[in-house]
Amino acid sequence: MKKKILVSIVMGSQSDWKILSSTEKILKDFNIPYEKNIVSAHRTPERLYDFAKNVKNRQVEVVIAGAGGAAHLPGMISALTSMPVIGVPIETKTLKGLDSLLSIVQMPAGIPVPTVAIGKPGAINAALAAISILGNKYPKIKKKLEDFRIKQTKSIKKKPIDE
Ligand code: RP5
Repeated sequence: MKKKILVSIVMGSQSDWKILSSTEKILKDFNIPYEKNIVSAHRTPERLYDFAKNVKNRQVEVVIAGAGGAAHLPGMISALTSMPVIGVPIETKTLKGLDSLLSIVQMPAGIPVPTVAIGKPGAINAALAAISILGNKYPKIKKKLEDFRIKQTKSIKKKPIDE
């Protein structure tokens, strides 16, 4: 039987994938069933509406939405659903992603978009945050996350190595 998809990764453009592929890598490492789609709030508004309406019927539990510039995708998905939508600001050439960050994070009260750092660190943390949310419901996922954190802590050397 096919596993239920728990996380949906959405991006505003193909050009966002070079960053959001880091989200995918973490989800794969943790063996979390996921899907990935391009949904542009501006260029494909109807696809956005369909996506948001369907995603809740499909019992996806967390959405990770990455977009750059006037990044309205995460906020619009959050407006159309009540599930956790984690926003990933994509770095941009002109404003280095500060535009994306502010567009995503400055939501009006009532429609939340928990927002991570700009670029790759944010893409990685979005996956880890989604895993943390899922861990509240799925003990095996929680255990994997705790093991990951222990391993990460152990991997940090006490002294720097000369380069
Ligand atoms: C946004 O516009 C996308 O999320 C992307 O970050 C940005 C630029 O898109 P492209 O012009 O590269 O397709 O909607």
